[in-house]
Amino acid sequence: MEIVIVPDSAAGARVAARLIARVVTAKPTAVLGLATGSSPLGTYAELAEQATSGTTDFSAASGFALDEYVGIPAEHPQSYAAVIDREVTRRLGMDPARVHVPDGRATEIPAACDAYEAAIRASGGVDIQILGIGANGHIGFNEPSSSLSSRTRIKTLTPRTRADNARFFDSLDDVPTHCLTQGLGTIMDARRIVLVAQGSAKAAAVAAAVEGPVSAMCPASVLQFHPHATVVVDEAAAADLT
Ligand code: F6R
Repeated sequence: MEIVIVPDSAAGARVAARLIARVVTAKPTAVLGLATGSSPLGTYAELAEQATSGTTDFSAASGFALDEYVGIPAEHPQSYAAVIDREVTRRLGMDPARVHVPDGRATEIPAACDAYEAAIRASGGVDIQILGIGANGHIGFNEPSSSLSSRTRIKTLTPRTRADNARFFDSLDDVPTHCLTQGLGTIMDARRIVLVAQGSAKAAAVAAAVEGPVSAMCPASVLQFHPHATVVVDEAAAADLT
């Protein structure tokens, strides 16, 4: 695991974007694993600039979102389908037909999860997975106690994660209670991983993930087993590292 400590979130976004752009430049058909939430927004903005300036061409790349809420329509502005379309697909000039999000409205949830895993496999697998981290150490929506070898499945969001994400909704009651998420085993299959974290609210989770024991109680700690994982943290998020 490589740890890169940068002065601020803007510098972190530049470092993460550089890693991703390098993969896409080497392989224009690269498959990107896409996180939502606020952590990767600066990275996506950097990549969007590269797309606009013609420095990096994402038109042949594919994307697989990490997760999706269950039970909100795809048109809802906070559905991850809408967020990925708005923040990534359009801004990076990706082909919408090649950008996938788990189907949180499927009537047959287990079949939809299996189909998502099959689609990732059929694409050749994720070349670089972009991750944020929850204050409780979750990655994707693999909350504490998730199996370290889990695959895409339905999960219940913890009260803490619902409260953390309430800022994106009108009220806490509007935050969905369930989600579909790539599993920790799915995430670990990516050839490269870059996790970005900013701010003091993430410091404890970052320290547990990087320096703590590998444990299902801190799902991000599984990244210690990944051969090509880079953790890009600003000084505030790095504050609890020894
Ligand atoms: C979202 C996701 C989550 C977030 C995490 C941090 O697709 O996978 O693991 O990365 O909840 O969220 P932010 O970045 O909003 O602090």
